[in-house]
Amino acid sequence: MSTQNQKVAIVTGASQGIGAGVVEAYRKLGYGVVATSRTIAPADDADIVTVQGDIADPATAERVVAAAIERFGRIDTLVNNAGVFVAKPFTDYTADDYAAVLGINMTGFFRITQLAIGHMLTQGGGHIVNVTTSLVDNADARVPSALASLTKGGLQSATKSLAIEYATRGIRANAVSPGTIKTPMHPEETHMGLAALHPVGRMGEVSDIVDAVVFLENAPFVTGEILHVDGGMSAGH
Ligand SMILES: NC(=O)c1ccc[n+]([C@@H]2O[C@H](COP(=O)([O-])OP(=O)(O)OC[C@H]3O[C@@H](n4cnc5c(N)ncnc54)[C@H](OP(=O)(O)O)[C@@H]3O)[C@@H](O)[C@H]2O)c1
Repeated sequence: MSTQNQKVAIVTGASQGIGAGVVEAYRKLGYGVVATSRTIAPADDADIVTVQGDIADPATAERVVAAAIERFGRIDTLVNNAGVFVAKPFTDYTADDYAAVLGINMTGFFRITQLAIGHMLTQGGGHIVNVTTSLVDNADARVPSALASLTKGGLQSATKSLAIEYATRGIRANAVSPGTIKTPMHPEETHMGLAALHPVGRMGEVSDIVDAVVFLENAPFVTGEILHVDGGMSAGH
């Protein structure tokens, strides 16, 4: 049963992959969770509220935050995890690719983060976690993906900016920057090739990213951190 003292996390892109793992982890930490994506199903767990919607639409952010306040009365953590990845040579990107990637990865971060921080300021603290990609800091000729770098790079910069803007008001902002992770984003037949992109010679598991989010959650002196969880990609090739 939830109480006003129960902490609360919002997780976007929560229907599968990393987001679904993050939802499970916050429940294990005892948090009430508001989980959102376009197709997310209602949960059996009474302490998980699900809200369907396109995160590129600011109206979804309004509904998700309203659901958190209505059901739990507070917001302690927002994990901006919803994202898409379109890898193409730069000149092959279409206007639709641009609109989709910018809409989900960046616009999808903006309104929900504004609203969540508004509540965190009233409560006296909170935590924003953005899920980015190691490609931002480690461009790879084998994976041309400038739109990923444009959007997730923006999120990484905004992570630091928010960390500094709110440092004295109890709100932390961090990012987890993954290598390639085994989720439905990557069909099984691509795994061998993707594993070879990492110095450690394997893809990451959802649990690798979830563990990093949980670490950041439990690290009150860490803010503005871009935590690379990428099998060594950020160290070199
Ligand atoms: N997997 C990797 O290798 C990898 C590497 C680096 C970074 N990342 C980042 O990690 C995050 C999670 O990736 P993942 O691998 O878990 O992806 P995934 O398995 O493809 O899941 C993506 C999630 O985002 C949701 N989503 C997609 N479009 C949406 C929209 N328009 N509005 C609302 N929700 C939407 C999906 O749910 P619905 O379909 O129900 O909307 C799903 O829950 C993303 O930000 C991704 O960029 C992943």
